[in-house]
Amino acid sequence: MIEKEISKIDKKIDRMRKRVKGVEDYKVANEVFDNSTLLTLYHFAKNGSIDTLHGVIKAGKEANVFLADDKNGRKIAVKIYMVTASDFRNMLKYIEGDRRFRGFHKNRRGIIYTWVKKEFKNLERAHDAGVMVPEPIAFRNNVLLMDFIGTNGKNAPMLKNIEVQEPEKILSDIIENYNKLYCRANLVHSDLSEYNILIKDNSIPYLIDFSQAVIREHPGAADFLNRDVKNLTRYFKKYFDVAEEEIYKRITLCG
Ligand SMILES: Nc1ncnc2c1ncn2[C@@H]1O[C@H](COP(=O)(O)OP(=O)(O)OP(=O)(O)O)[C@@H](O)[C@H]1O
Ligand SMILES: [Mg+2]
Repeated sequence: MIEKEISKIDKKIDRMRKRVKGVEDYKVANEVFDNSTLLTLYHFAKNGSIDTLHGVIKAGKEANVFLADDKNGRKIAVKIYMVTASDFRNMLKYIEGDRRFRGFHKNRRGIIYTWVKKEFKNLERAHDAGVMVPEPIAFRNNVLLMDFIGTNGKNAPMLKNIEVQEPEKILSDIIENYNKLYCRANLVHSDLSEYNILIKDNSIPYLIDFSQAVIREHPGAADFLNRDVKNLTRYFKKYFDVAEEEIYKRITLCG
C-alpha cells in the first residue's frame, strides 16, 4: 500500500519536473525544486492555479520568484522559499509576538511554512485595506502565488533601479499606502525600502515582500516602523528635502 502511494508520488514529481524543465536560468536548481516543492507545485498545476512556469524573475538568498501563467492565461508571480537556505533565527523575531501565529511548529519546515502563511495573510489584509500590493492568490507549504506586477509580461522595476520622474508624488503615494496599511490593516511592513517597492508604468508604487510584516501590537513594531520611515527618508533625500518626523506623522495619523 505504502509502496503504491510512493510510486504515485514519484510519478507526480516526475511530471512536475518535466514541467519546470524549461526553467533553465535558475541558480541552484535542485535547491529550489526539491521533491517536496515539486509536489507542492504539482498540487497547483493540478488545480489550474499554475499552467506554465516561465523563467525566474529574481533569484534571491531565501526565495526565488518566477513568472507563470494560470490556466486562464493570467500572469502570476510564484514565490518559492528555499527550506534549506533560510535564516530561521531572523524569521522567529517577526513571528513570535504576532498573536495570529501562536503555536506554530518550531522546526525548519514549521518556521518556513508559517513564514509563507504570514506573507499571504499580510498581503490579504493589506489588499483588503486598499493598499497597492500584489493580490494574493494561494499559498501552500513554501510556495506563495500572487498577482504579477508588471506590464506585458515584463516585471515592474524596483524603486531602487529607476530614475524617479516625480519624486514628491511617488513618496506621497507611498505614504498614503503605508497610512492605509497602518491604520486600516493594522500592520507595520518592517522591511520597507527602495528594494521592496515596485514602480509600475513609471508612476504607480506597489509595496511588496510582506513576510516580515507584523501587527501593530507586536513588541518590535515601533522599532520596525521607525526603521521603515528612516529608509524612506534616506532614499528620497537624494531627490528633495524630506523631514523624517513629517513622514512618520502622515503614516500614523489615523482619521
Ligand atoms: N508580485 C510580483 N510581481 C512582479 N515581480 C515580483 C513580485 N514579487 C516579487 N517580485 C520580484 O522579485 C523580487 C524579490 O521578491 P521579494 O522582495 O518578495 O523577495 P525577497 O524576500 O526580497 O527575496 P530575497 O530576500 O531572498 O532576495 C522583487 O524585488 C521583484 O523584483
Ligand atoms: Mg525583497
